[in-house]
This record gives sequence, structure tokens and C-alpha cells, in this order.
Amino acid sequence: MTTANTSAPGDTTLEGTRPIDTPEPQASGAEWWRSAVIYQIYPRSFADANGDGIGDLAGIASHLEPLRDLGVDAVWLSPFMTSPQKDAGYDVADYCDVDPLFGTLADFDAMTARAHELGIRVIIDLVPNHSSDQHKWFREALASPPGSPQRARYMFRDGRGEAGELPPNNWQSVFGGPAWTRITEPDGRPGQWYLHLFDSSQPDFDWSNPDVWEMFRGVLRFWLDRGVDGFRVDVAHGMVKQEGLPDYTPPMDAGSMGAAGPLGLEPEIDEVEPVGAPYWGQEGVHEIFRDWHRVLAEYPGERVLCAEAWVDPLTETAKWVRSDEMHQAFNFAYLETPWKASALRAVIDESLRAFGDVGAPSTWVLSNHDVVRHASRFALTAPNPQGKGIGPKSPGKPIPEVGLRRARAASMLMLALPGGAYLYQGEELGLPEVIDLPDEARQDPTWFRSGGERYGRDGCRVPIPWEAGSPAYGFSPTGASWLPQPLDWGGYARASQVGKEGSTLELYRRALRLRREHRLGSGTLTWVDGLPEDVVAFRNGPVTVVANTGTSPVPLPAQLAAAEVLLASGEHSGASVPGDTTLWFRAL
Ligand code: NOJ
Ligand code: CA
Repeated sequence: MTTANTSAPGDTTLEGTRPIDTPEPQASGAEWWRSAVIYQIYPRSFADANGDGIGDLAGIASHLEPLRDLGVDAVWLSPFMTSPQKDAGYDVADYCDVDPLFGTLADFDAMTARAHELGIRVIIDLVPNHSSDQHKWFREALASPPGSPQRARYMFRDGRGEAGELPPNNWQSVFGGPAWTRITEPDGRPGQWYLHLFDSSQPDFDWSNPDVWEMFRGVLRFWLDRGVDGFRVDVAHGMVKQEGLPDYTPPMDAGSMGAAGPLGLEPEIDEVEPVGAPYWGQEGVHEIFRDWHRVLAEYPGERVLCAEAWVDPLTETAKWVRSDEMHQAFNFAYLETPWKASALRAVIDESLRAFGDVGAPSTWVLSNHDVVRHASRFALTAPNPQGKGIGPKSPGKPIPEVGLRRARAASMLMLALPGGAYLYQGEELGLPEVIDLPDEARQDPTWFRSGGERYGRDGCRVPIPWEAGSPAYGFSPTGASWLPQPLDWGGYARASQVGKEGSTLELYRRALRLRREHRLGSGTLTWVDGLPEDVVAFRNGPVTVVANTGTSPVPLPAQLAAAEVLLASGEHSGASVPGDTTLWFRAL
């Protein structure tokens, strides 16, 4: 199947079907992904067709029209492959099959065909840093002796101490606790240790082993042959570990990516992405991506690789998207930037420069399945390091109205920027983080491995609402839902917002339509100076964007006050931009 799109970005209509079955590739520099809006589907929480309370592929297939109407170019699906679900599918037991929880390969094909029919490309998640402990290879490794080729596909080491009773080094798992687990050898004796940067059920592959390279080439081809348009690559910064696996102690002042957290406050010590760790951002990863780049290039239709690489600074992230490596990398520096004009201007400048220097577009993202939803994050009043989550006992809980107002303004700023934008399911509905999940409902391994000290990510993963009056708000025909949905979510339901003036959904639809019409994704940003410090203002093609990140209204210069307002994230008078509001004007 070929999936190239010969139409220039912006040529297609919002409401109509945009078939993508045309073979000609775009001229270099105009590829679809450079300006695309990509919508993340978290399969278990999107739509449940068979009523077991867990979203599935059939549910996705039957709910794609609303995404076409929203105006997205592609969907990225978090993992749906065979998995014991210890980390919600990021623990893969068979990379080339669908977990029965989500359906079958035939369901996948049907979903992909439907998406393509609607003009929506399909990106899937690839998890190459680790597998599940239920993967055939890991089971073989456990059943084989130390030093065997089966063990050599993972990171097995002898322990330290007299009887090997201590872990091989001091590395800590991202989810809390040691990054090593000791096994019992086939003969019943306490044995070697294996490395898992995440849960103990997620053993890390050894990427110095050619078997691993070969296996993943096969996985890429398996899905490319089925017509996928690309891959989001999980933990793309962690696949290669420093030679000798040296001990590592994070510096006391290391924040997530070494940057200030979403509030602009210094974060607490961050266990998630310590700066300079011997397991993050090692030079050796790049050769792997060059190899994959070549595999994708064998296929027609501008297939894409997008890196999940939590590295710092942006000039480092840009290495993941050099012209012979991946195509996109998530801009986590942008995601972690507070709702503060000076910080936003700086990160936008830095992003455009760093990615531009390697010939890649920047991406922009505010939410995903690992972070506190931005409709809540932007109203937190206490530090909240990445991965911690918010729950009933967290300090500094957000005021929902403030969070939503800022989120709408922030999203409207993001969607006017040149480059690719990633949306996370439910943000177009204005969904907040679910804070008051009962302890017994929580499922994130972070919660268990940190002994309840970190709430983790369940709060952003609650199944999304479709219809106010239906069971589970239309998520599931039986009303079942793997995480409980709040009682007050009726107003957020998609059906409650369709066609409703001022709704968050209609705001996003309008933004995506204007973005396409005015080709903002492939445009060029020029700063508009002379406005107060709290304001981010720029021009992109025929559109001028003014975002007021402060709380007091900012008067507009006469020229803008007279200009046509194309879009407004909140109410406005015309003469000024209210606090926490973004306006788009037709530039004069
Ligand atoms: C990043 C994924 O986004 C996250 O959900 C997962 O837990 C870890 N990688 C481990 O695969
Ligand atoms: Ca289901």
C-alpha cells in the first residue's frame, strides 16, 4: 500500500475525505510530517467496542470520523501489541501481533484502512529499549545458562558482593527502586541480575548484539508492509548504555532535562531523566536510527520516525533528527516550559534554531500519556516534577477554570507555530487531569514501585467522554471503564461540545482549519516586538498571534485593534487581549 500525499499542506478541505493513496512523494522540504498535526490515541482509553471497559482497535476504527472532522493529519497509537500490560502495553511480549485485549491483526488492518480512507495517516508505537519479561527471548534467556547467546540479547550481569548478592551497579529504575533484578538460575540457585530501566517486567535489550538489530529491522518491515505511515520510538534516548555500566549519582540540582518545571519553579531532584546519566543519550543510539532510516526509505510514501528522547538541551535533541536519522523528535523542552512569555519566546527561538540547523522542523507538544494534562498543569501552584503526577494528597492543586483558560490559550499559541504539532486525546475537549482517583484504582507501575510516594500517570489516562448521557459517557457500551471517570465529565463530552459556540472542541477545530488554510505549519515565524513583557506576539504568514500569559488585560496597538480577529481562546473586547488569552488576527 502506498500512502504519499501529493497535495500541498493546506490544499485539502476540512470536512471532506482526504484520500492519501497517491504514490508521488513530496519534494524534499515539503513532506507531510513537517507541518502535520498528529493526534495521539491512547488505545485503552479512546473507545471500547466490546464492552470490557478497555478501549480497542474496533473502537478506534468506528470513532475516526470525529478526528477527521477535527482536522488532524495523522494518529499515533500507543502500543496495542501482545503484552501482559504491566506498563499499559509498553511491555511488549510479541512485537508482530495484536494483544487480544485490543483485537486482532485483522482489526488493525481494518482500522488502518478506515483511517487512510478518511485521509488520516497511522503512526504506531515501537518499544525497542526493552521487551516484556514474557517475550520469547527473555524466557529463553532465563532458561539458558550465564554467558549463553540467549542471555546476550539482554543486559545480564553477575552481581557485586561476595556471593553476587548486590546489584551490578547503583542505577535506579525510572519508576523507582533499583534498575536490577536478580534471577533464579535454572538449577535453582540465586543467579545473575538483569537490567530494567523501567519496571522489573521490562528487561532492557542489549543493543550491542546484532540479533537485536536484526529483530527490530524485521519488526519495522512487518508493520511497514501492513501500511503504517511511521513509528513513534519509545525511550529513543536509552537504548545504548555506557561501556562498563559505571555507577551514577544524579547531581542534587538536576531537574528534568536540567530545566525549570512547568511552573518556572526549580523542580525537586528528578529521578526520571538525570542529566548526564550513563544510560541516556549515548552516542551509539544514532547508528541504530541511521539503520532504521534506510529501512523506511525502502518504502514509498514518506514514512516517518519520531523520537521520544528526553535529552537536554535542544541542540542535543536535534541530533536525533539529522537528515539521515529520525524525522521528528518530541519537543519536551517546549512541553516543560511554564506559561510565561519570556520562557516561551526563548524556547520557541531555541527550538526553531536547533532543529533548523539540522534541516528538521520543530515539533510542539503540551500533553501526552506520561504527563499531567496541561489543562491542570498550567494552574498548579506547587512544584510537580515530571512523573510524579497529582493525587488527593498533592499540594498546590489547580483551579480548573484557571487551568482550562490557560490551556486553551497555550494550545492556540502552539497551533500557530511553524512545524509539526502533537495533540493528546481529550485535550481538544479541555479535559483536566483526574486528581481524585482512589488508591485502589491506580494502575501505573510508578505508584507501586514508589510505594505510593508518586501518583504517576493514571490521572491523564482516564477514558475520554463521548456522550454525556450514555454509559461511561459513551466510552463503552456496558458502562465499564478501566479507570473510573469523574461524575462531572458530561460537559466535556464530545457530543456536548460539537457545534457549541465557545466550546474547546470548536476552538480546536477552528484552529486546525485556519492552520491548514493559511499553511501555518509550513510557515515562518517573525516576532512582533513592542508589546508588554507578558505577551508573546508573532506573525506567521497572513496571521498575527498575540498571547497574553499575564493575568491583566493588555491594550492592543491601534493597527491590531482594527484587524479582523480570526480566532480567540477566550472572550475579548477588541481593544485589548485579556489575561491568559490568545488571539489570532488577520495581519494587515
Ligand atoms: C515512555 C512511555 O511513553 C511510557 O508510557 C513508558 O512507561 C516508558 N516509556 C517505558 O516504556
Ligand atoms: Ca474493549
